[in-house]
Amino acid sequence: MVEESPEPIEGDHQGFRIRKQHLQAFLLTTAIVLVVLLFASMQMEANDADDIDPIASDGGETRASEGDDPCIDCHEDDIMPGITADWRKSRHAEEDVSCIDCHEGEESDPDTELHNGYWVSPVVSPLDCAECHPDAVEENDRSLHSLGVDYYALLFDGKKLPYLESQIDDGYIMRDGVEMDHAATLRGCQACHGTDMTGETADNWTVWPNNGIGRINPDGSKGSCSACHSRHSFSLKEARSPETCGQCHMGPDHPQIEIYSESKHGNIYAAEGDTWNWEEEDWKAGEDYRAPTCAGCHMSSAPGLDATHDVSSRLSWELEPAISRHTDNTANSLGYPISDGSTWQEKRNRMKTVCEQCHGETWVDNYYEQADLAVDLYNQQYTDAKVIVDALYDDELLTPEAFDELIEFKIYEMWHHEGRRARMGAFMMGPDYTQWHGFYEVFQDRVDIEEMNHTIRAAAAEENGHDDDEDKDDNEVEWIAWTIPLIFLLGFVILAVAVTRK
Ligand code: HEC
Ligand code: HEC
Ligand code: HEC
Ligand code: HEC
Ligand code: HEC
Ligand code: HEC
Ligand code: HEC
Ligand code: HEC
Repeated sequence: MVEESPEPIEGDHQGFRIRKQHLQAFLLTTAIVLVVLLFASMQMEANDADDIDPIASDGGETRASEGDDPCIDCHEDDIMPGITADWRKSRHAEEDVSCIDCHEGEESDPDTELHNGYWVSPVVSPLDCAECHPDAVEENDRSLHSLGVDYYALLFDGKKLPYLESQIDDGYIMRDGVEMDHAATLRGCQACHGTDMTGETADNWTVWPNNGIGRINPDGSKGSCSACHSRHSFSLKEARSPETCGQCHMGPDHPQIEIYSESKHGNIYAAEGDTWNWEEEDWKAGEDYRAPTCAGCHMSSAPGLDATHDVSSRLSWELEPAISRHTDNTANSLGYPISDGSTWQEKRNRMKTVCEQCHGETWVDNYYEQADLAVDLYNQQYTDAKVIVDALYDDELLTPEAFDELIEFKIYEMWHHEGRRARMGAFMMGPDYTQWHGFYEVFQDRVDIEEMNHTIRAAAAEENGHDDDEDKDDNEVEWIAWTIPLIFLLGFVILAVAVTRK
């Protein structure tokens, strides 16, 4: 034990002078070290800031009459009677739009075959409808829906999405020795997104039937109208029902139908939807229905706003990519123009016009402000996590291959699953998706990513015998962790020596 000095800090005393010098030296050293530490930490923050990507914040004419239709005779009772029965109940039958009006093609079309004296195809593309419904086709064509095939094959950061094709060697659908599509995607991704039917012929269908939203048709047109208007009833009620959209807009990565079901609007639809006027051509809020369905907000008309098949035309945010941007760019990641070229504010105002059929301006403006904040918060969380993962690539601690390391799945799910749920829940009144299926998991992902980063770096450091600087970030942290106590220990020892030498 150190002997107590009776007058440790007072008096003109030899021991005190020695201690005073030591104390000065100790204080000076500590001050210098603290200044150095302060600079080091500022430098680290600056480096982090440099790494953060800036967020860019921001009717028709009828041709034939049923009487003339050469198809009904055979197709009414024996051959596919279900089809004719559906058609009989439709507006088309009322308007004498018959089988041949939609199914007849030119001899030169690759997808037609000679059938009882007529060139017909079972495939009916938007171009076949365009003759009588040009607006619907034009609007659908400029929306993101028509690009469903092009976008499903989109790369993420230059890498393929994990749809496991590479894992299955024999799973390809071949035609004339050429790989057409992959079994896993044909009945999976492409059932929603669509197949590429270019080159399909009537005597050799390989990727049909398919009614994916962006199907590329044998005539080169894009989209499948029966994705929402199943043939042959072409019912407005069906198209306006949330379940129709929910066939594709569901699941962990875009749970719009689940969000809708838990929203107040969804509750009202569930409680009283069966009493609404679904078939009214001009569907009016308040009169025909009391709460919006998906179509009500994204497609139907409102006073001063036309109904549209361009589902992109009322969106101010891109909520599906890793970082949300405003939609004033008319071309997105693939460079295709989308929608009608209006600004994101114009698009937002269209949606607000929809809300303001049933809500006041303040309610709507404030709701949008709240949801915007949620998008900003998400963007920041993802940006921070990406800095960590990018640094691992830079330091060659991850392989360049996609999805062969757990952390790559983590950061993918952070934006593609939980991050989308958080953002979409915020904009479509689904609190549980904003919070528990959303932000809660976003924050958890971030901690997981930090921990994985630590483990990967520690393992690499161990492998390299701790003697190189690959493990830069960790070493910096460790260095700070042991220097501070060491300085204090050193100071204490000097003091102690000085005191005992007295
Ligand atoms: C003489 C009776 C008869 C007439 C008339 C007839 N069909 Fe058919 N159709 C059939 C039979 C039988 C089949 C099922 C066998 C087959 O695919 O050829 C069939 C099948 C079809 C298919 C399915 C083809 C496929 O590849 O899946 C379509 C589409 C079709 N018919 C449309 C029409 C249209 C449009 C007309 C009027 C131009 C028409 N049919 C007139 C008897 C007829
Ligand atoms: C308003 C346009 C329209 C009319 C009218 C129409 N169809 Fe169709 N039909 C379609 C569409 C759209 C499809 C979906 C095919 C596709 O594009 O994948 C289809 C598909 C079919 C198929 C193939 C589907 C299957 O399940 O095998 C047959 C067969 C068919 N139609 C027969 C008929 C017959 C018979 C009539 C008359 C009673 C008729 N269609 C009237 C638009 C029409
Ligand atoms: C030969 C002309 C013609 C063709 C081809 C045609 N339609 Fe129609 N369609 C009509 C007419 C006429 C009506 C009734 C008036 C209206 O709503 O415009 C109608 C109505 C509709 C309706 C509203 C139904 C309702 O209950 O009010 C839908 C949906 C529809 N068509 C979809 C399609 C689709 C999808 C195609 C292509 C697969 C198609 N139509 C092809 C003429 C056509
Ligand atoms: C057959 C599947 C399918 C159905 C049914 C479907 N969608 Fe989509 N939807 C998609 C796909 C796939 C995308 C993304 C397309 C792409 O990336 O090119 C999409 C995108 C969208 C977008 C985003 C547009 C943008 O610019 O970001 C909206 C909004 C939308 N759909 C609304 C609807 C509504 C409303 C309905 C029902 C009336 C509906 N969808 C029915 C598959 C579908
Ligand atoms: C259940 C239907 C469904 C399946 C299956 C599906 N998707 Fe999608 N996909 C959608 C919908 C709906 C959207 C639009 C989401 C949104 O805008 O919120 C979408 C969006 C996308 C996007 C984003 C497009 C953009 O504009 O940024 C890509 C890429 C994508 N899907 C790829 C795939 C791949 C690859 C698969 C198979 C592994 C797949 N999808 C399976 C329905 C589906
Ligand atoms: C995403 C789902 C979806 C797709 C895909 C879709 N429709 Fe519609 N369609 C609807 C909805 C919803 C309505 C009712 C809108 C409203 O409430 O006024 C509608 C209404 C219509 C109508 C009647 C109102 C009008 O515009 O005259 C026609 C005709 C029509 N669609 C044709 C088509 C054609 C042609 C295609 C293919 C190019 C198509 N639709 C693709 C959802 C869809
Ligand atoms: C009360 C109105 C309302 C209803 C009901 C509604 N949405 Fe939305 N939806 C919105 C708003 C608002 C946005 C965000 C608009 C923006 O970007 O400014 C949005 C965004 C979207 C997006 C875009 C996501 C992206 O990738 O950018 C899709 C897809 C979508 N909704 C589909 C649906 C589907 C499917 C349903 C029904 C199951 C539905 N919505 C119901 C209002 C609604
Ligand atoms: C057709 C009428 C209608 C339209 C259009 C509509 N809403 Fe609603 N909304 C309602 C009704 C009715 C309620 C229930 C009000 C109540 O709780 O008493 C509601 C409730 C809400 C709520 C409260 C949710 C809760 O959990 O209590 C919000 C927020 C909301 N709407 C926002 C919007 C926004 C934003 C839009 C446009 C994107 C919109 N609504 C479009 C009818 C509508």
